[in-house]
This record gives sequence, C-alpha cells and structure tokens, in this order.
Amino acid sequence: MIRTASAIDIQRVKRSRLPETDLEHLKFGRVFTDHMFVMDYADGAWQQPKIMPYGDLELSPATLVLHYAQTIFEGMKAYRDDQGRVNLFRPQANIARMARSAVRMCMPPVPEDTFLEGLKELVRMDAAWIPQGADAALYIRPFLFASDEYIGVKPSEGYRFMIFICPVRGYYQEPLRVKLELEYSRAFPGGTGEVKCGGNYAGGLYPSKMGQDIGYHQNLWTDAMEHKYIEESGTMNVFFIIDGVLTTPSLDGTILAGITRDSILTLAREKGLKTAERKITVDEVVTGIRNGRVSAAFGAGTAATIAPIKVVGYKGEDLQLPDLGADSEVNLIGKMLDDIRRGHKPDTHGWVVGTE
Ligand code: COI
Repeated sequence: MIRTASAIDIQRVKRSRLPETDLEHLKFGRVFTDHMFVMDYADGAWQQPKIMPYGDLELSPATLVLHYAQTIFEGMKAYRDDQGRVNLFRPQANIARMARSAVRMCMPPVPEDTFLEGLKELVRMDAAWIPQGADAALYIRPFLFASDEYIGVKPSEGYRFMIFICPVRGYYQEPLRVKLELEYSRAFPGGTGEVKCGGNYAGGLYPSKMGQDIGYHQNLWTDAMEHKYIEESGTMNVFFIIDGVLTTPSLDGTILAGITRDSILTLAREKGLKTAERKITVDEVVTGIRNGRVSAAFGAGTAATIAPIKVVGYKGEDLQLPDLGADSEVNLIGKMLDDIRRGHKPDTHGWVVGTE
C-alpha cells in the first residue's frame, strides 16, 4: 500500500482491464473501471479511506442492508475538456444531497472533504477510461450502506461508503414513450421521495415493468394521494413547455431535487426564458398535449441528461408530442450545459471542478 499525502491508502491494479475493453460499444452501467474507493464507518468514526482494485464484496447473509434497504446513492459525471483535463460536474451538490439522504435514512454523512478528495483521486487514476465522443463521460456511483451483521430492525452501527465508476455513452437511444401512472406511486408525503435511497427505486420496478410490458420506456409518476399531480418520470425529473413556459413540478418533499433539473432552470432563467416551478396537473398535460398548449416534454437527470419525451400514455391512449427540433430552446439549453461541462464555454457558475 502507498500512503499518499491525502492519507488515502492506494493499491493499484497489477494490470489494467482497459486494453480489452470496448469503449465504443458501451452498455450503460455494465462496464466498470479498474479501481474503487472504500471507507468504513465503525465505532462511531470514519476509518482509513482506501482505493483498491474494483472487485466483489464479501458480505454476511445477515448484512442489514440486504434486509431493510438502509442504503443511499448518488450519480454524477466526469468529462474530458478540450485541453484534455478531466473535470467533475457539480460534485459538491451531489455530496450535499447525499448528506441530506444520509440524515433521512439514519446514516452518518460522509465527510465532505474526504468524499471530494477520494472522488478526485479515483477519477484521476481511472481517467484513461473516459470514452471519446460527444455523449461520452464517466458515470460515478457513490453509495453508502448498512453493514452490520444483524437482522433486528434498527439503524446499523457500521456502514461502508464506496465509489465506483462506469465509462458511459447515452442512457436512452431514442425519444421516450412514458405512461402516466394512475394506480401505483413512487413516493408519498412524509416518505423518502426527496432522497436518493435504494427503496425508492425498488418500489418503482413493478409498475415500471408493467408499463414496459406494454411498450413504454418509463412511467410518469403522479402524487400518491389523488394521482392528480405529476411528479417525476422514471428515474428523472420532468419538464413540460406549457404555453411557452418551461415548467417543472415544484419540490414538495416527494420529488428528488435533481442537479440537472437545477442546472437547466438556472441556464433557462439566465437566457431569459420564462420558467415555473409549480404543481402540474395530469389534466392540464393531457388537455394541453391535445390542444397544443403543451409543446414539448423531456426528462432530466445525470444519467439521461436531457431525454426528450415523444409520447405520453394516458388510459390506453398515446398522446403524441412534437419532435424537439435541433434549434429548440430545450436543445439549446442542453447544448449550453454540455458546453460548460466539456469546457467549450466559460463556467460562470463554479460548477466545473478539476481533478488535477
Ligand atoms: C441518475 O441519473 O444518476 C440516476 O440516479 C438514474 C440512475 C438510477 C440510473
């Protein structure tokens, strides 16, 4: 082990898997870089951080997380800029959100400086894995889970924090067909909808699969109480252009505060577009698509970036949305975001964080 100045113990792979990896044809989330970051929480304190070869975990069958889902995660990306530098996009926002998730799930927040330092070191070590091309990036997955060997229902005393990386290209290959979900729910008031915990995703699998079985990519989640208001789309925030206003559901405790969502709103406002964060009813979207007042819809997330929606399924009917033209306002905002991330345009927001 090499002890670096930053006190991360680093053990490098003896031989990289990169030469035998096809970075041109990547399936999202199936390819993993050489190294991972690991830090345990034990006896009330964070232990020695380590970077080691990516590999399997050995866990007791009684590990708490496997039973009661005390686990949270984040998704962020690193990009190579025109000068060849590798940058993270808004990592502090992910770190802060993960700390909020930790509090809600009775877990110890990861110290911000160790998190950022470990992230930078890991990305530096595996920077050669960034694919070439317009949609290419490293997708970074930090996560924290309950590691006690115990099956009583209580917060764990021990935790493991890890980060691994996937080289990725686009998440969706085509405009989306989404189904308005009017029976099942992703989140409810007082629940965990606004944090990024594993259970939110597990609960969505069955209704999502039912939608996928009849030809939809994702569900368009509605509120749990009345199924009257739109909340999110699949694993993304959702935006509609309604009467020319870029409109997205307000953050009311059941919706994840997406960092891509926030970046889009910020850029749109600076560009002088009208924006609104408010409750959006199912009825106004259905009626609005029919009468043309809803002129576009898209999902926004780290993995998917901006994912155009072309069909909204409502009670067996497919409501068609116009294609987003290349020069549409939505695509122009997507391009502005990409230009900042890849260093083509100055970063006036302090969003881009170098790894050097
Ligand atoms: C992300 O966009 O980072 C997400 O969390 C979606 C993921 C579940 C693939």
